[in-house]
Amino acid sequence: MAVFECIKRMIYMCILVLFLFGFIAETRIAPTTVDDDPEEVASMVSLSIQNSIERKLRQLQGSSLSCATGNSIDDCWRCDSNWYNNRKRLADCAIGFGRNTIGGRDGRFYIVTDSSDDDAVNLKVGTLRHAVIQSEPLWIVFQRDMVIQLKQELIMNSYKTIDGRGANVHIANEACITIQNVTNIIIHGLHIHDCKPTGNAMVRSSPSHFGWRGMADGDAVSIFGSSNVWIDHNSLSNCADGLVDVVMASTAVTISNNYFSHHNDVMLFGHSDSYTGDKDMQVTVAYNHFGEGLMQRLPHCRHGYCHVVNNDYSHGWGIYAIGGGANPTINSEGNRFVADLKRYPDSSEVTKRTSGDKLEWKNWNWISQGDLFLNGAYFVPSGATGANSEAYAKASSYAKAKKSSLVVAITSSAGALTCRKDHMCTSN
Ligand SMILES: *[C@@H]1O[C@H](CO)[C@@H](O)[C@H](O)[C@H]1NC(C)=O
Repeated sequence: MAVFECIKRMIYMCILVLFLFGFIAETRIAPTTVDDDPEEVASMVSLSIQNSIERKLRQLQGSSLSCATGNSIDDCWRCDSNWYNNRKRLADCAIGFGRNTIGGRDGRFYIVTDSSDDDAVNLKVGTLRHAVIQSEPLWIVFQRDMVIQLKQELIMNSYKTIDGRGANVHIANEACITIQNVTNIIIHGLHIHDCKPTGNAMVRSSPSHFGWRGMADGDAVSIFGSSNVWIDHNSLSNCADGLVDVVMASTAVTISNNYFSHHNDVMLFGHSDSYTGDKDMQVTVAYNHFGEGLMQRLPHCRHGYCHVVNNDYSHGWGIYAIGGGANPTINSEGNRFVADLKRYPDSSEVTKRTSGDKLEWKNWNWISQGDLFLNGAYFVPSGATGANSEAYAKASSYAKAKKSSLVVAITSSAGALTCRKDHMCTSN
């Protein structure tokens, strides 16, 4: 105890000495900038003292004050230049319907050292596939930059985080990620692109089980019969089917801070108009940047509840932005919708109803609150309860909308970040 007290006192002394040195050095030069009116000199000196005290205080408190962006996920962890040693902090930072997702927080770290994927049944230690099928919780990280070309779908087991921070990791050109019949998955910091249909093969899904997989569609991330899933800060583009699909009674999903580009059917939530198992589906889409070359389903929502909040639609949409069928609830808040009428002259309407007719649509609860519409973009709302429902209040408390004027700043580092040890992560 006494030793700790002593060390603590020494640290305080050092801080005090540094503080005084800085203070003297800065005040000394201040008066030379004004002429000799004594009152002015006095007030300059006092101002200078005040400034230097404030500056020192900010330095002592670390950088946490100056890096806040209003992005409540990033503000929770990104101000920490020691992210490398505090990786699991991320697991406490989700918002929205997937806010309770812990991924592999309570498990060991697993370091992927081998980018190969030669056999989807007999797995090599050190590969991503060997990591994700394990039964125990794992926080999976990468030893170095790598491009992983998966021969078959990467079938994930529960309680896993794939954390790409600190390496430039691409899952590309072949199969991609399947989150099926599991819970608690975090996917963070990956580049996932050019995914292709694969299948008609045996694939391992746990240490004790492998089975026959038919053809997969070629989604970047397919979420099927799963809950508590958080897809954050990934760069997603150009796949054969969807970029993120949420189907077959999946729920408690948050899709945040991703950069989407160059793709047709971006996000499908809800398997089909007739599959009512998706009535309980709840998905939050927050802080994403919808960039160039996107056509439709940003997202498309069926049956369940879709909260679309503080996203930037900066490059228009070829067909529609937010759509849905089979009476979904769509709650659009604080987004920035910029139509691109040069490229897509017929696509100024944000919304599209893809089943039913006008009579039915009257009862579909589609709300727009605080959205910003530019270049002629417009949203066609519908529904009786509007913003008065209990579900609305809940969704909006899990992911509180910021003003749409802040959206450009909030989404400015969407996509996979560049993270170096001992430095704050930055956008590319
Ligand atoms: C998930 O459940 C469905 C339906 O029971 C089954 O057909 C499918 O094979 C399961 N997927 C995995 C990866 O276990």
